[in-house]
Amino acid sequence: MTESHFPYQRLRRTRSTRFIRDMVAENSLSPADFIWPLFVCEGTNIYEPIASMPGVGRHSIDKLIEQAKRAVQLGIPAIALFPKTPEALKTANGTEAVNKGNLICEAVREVKGAFPELGIVCDVALDPYTDHGHDGLLDETGHIVNDATVEILVEQARTLAEAGCDIIAPSDMMDGRVGAIRDMLEASNFPNVMIMSYAAKYASAFYGPFRDAVGAGSKLGGDGKKTYQMDPANSDEALREVAADISEGADMVMVKPGMPYLDIIQRVTDSYNIPCFAYQVSGEYAMLNAAAEKGWLDRNAVMQESLLAFKRAGAAGILTYFAPEMAEKLA
Ligand code: PBG
Repeated sequence: MTESHFPYQRLRRTRSTRFIRDMVAENSLSPADFIWPLFVCEGTNIYEPIASMPGVGRHSIDKLIEQAKRAVQLGIPAIALFPKTPEALKTANGTEAVNKGNLICEAVREVKGAFPELGIVCDVALDPYTDHGHDGLLDETGHIVNDATVEILVEQARTLAEAGCDIIAPSDMMDGRVGAIRDMLEASNFPNVMIMSYAAKYASAFYGPFRDAVGAGSKLGGDGKKTYQMDPANSDEALREVAADISEGADMVMVKPGMPYLDIIQRVTDSYNIPCFAYQVSGEYAMLNAAAEKGWLDRNAVMQESLLAFKRAGAAGILTYFAPEMAEKLA
C-alpha cells in the first residue's frame, strides 16, 4: 500500500470551489474540437427528421447551406457530409459513388462556394450507393472483395477531391485503401487534400440510427460488416491498423465508435504522434437522447461529460451530432 500523506495532502482542497476547479482542469472543450456530421438529401427546402436521432435530420442542399453557416458562426471548423442516395440510384457496384454530378459532390461544391473557409470531410465507402448496403463490392459468394473495391474507392476519392473536399475519410476498412488514395491524390495534383482514416473502425451495433439516416444496412445479412470492420474484442489490432494507415499516408486517424472505445483512443494517442479523432456515433447519440427524453439523464450534463471524456482520453477532436448544441453552450 502507498503511504498516506493525509492531512498534508487533502485532494478535496482543489475541488472546493468553482474557481479552483477551473484553474486545475486538465482538459476542456472548445468549438474547435468538433466536426459536425450532416446528412444530405435530394430536393429543395427539405428537412427530414430522423426518428432515432432527435434533433438530427437530412437537409436538402439549400438547407444544408444554412447549417454550414451555423457551423461557421459557432466556430466549428469542419463538417462531415453524408448523402442519402435515392433508392433508384443504388446498384450492386455502387457506381453512383463515382458520378461527378452526384448529390455529395454537388453538396461539397455548394458549401465550398458559400463558405470556402469551412472544412469539409467526406466519407469514402460504397454503402450509401450499394443496393446491398455493404461498403465494398461482392463476389458471387457474397464475399466483399478487397482490391477491386479499393480501385473504385480511389475513383470515389478523386471525384470528392475534384468537387473541393478538404479531407477524405475512408470509412470502408479495406486493406491498402489509404495508400492507393494517397498515390492518386499525389498523381492528380491534390497534394494538400488530407486523409483522415477511419483506422480503428469496429463492427459495431452502435451504427444503427446512421444506417437509417442514409438508408443503408437493413439488407446486410450473415456476418454483417464483420469481415472488414474490426472485432470489438481486439485492441492490439487497432494499433496495427493505425500503423498501416500512417505508413500509407494518413494525416489523421479516427477511432469509432467513441465512448465504448476510449481505451483504444488512449492507446493510439499514447503510441503514435498523430492527431487521433473520436467518432461519437449515431447509437451513442440516440442512447443519450432516449434516456434524457425519459427524464433518466440530464441531457446537457451527459452531452458535456461524454465529450470531455474524449479529450481526456487523448482525442484531438470529436465527430459528434451534438456539435452545434455544445458549441452554443460554450459560446
Ligand atoms: C459508412 C459509415 C458508417 C458510419 C460512418 N460512416 C456506418 C457503417 O459503417 O455501417 C457510422 C456513423 C454513425 O453511426 O454515426 N461506412
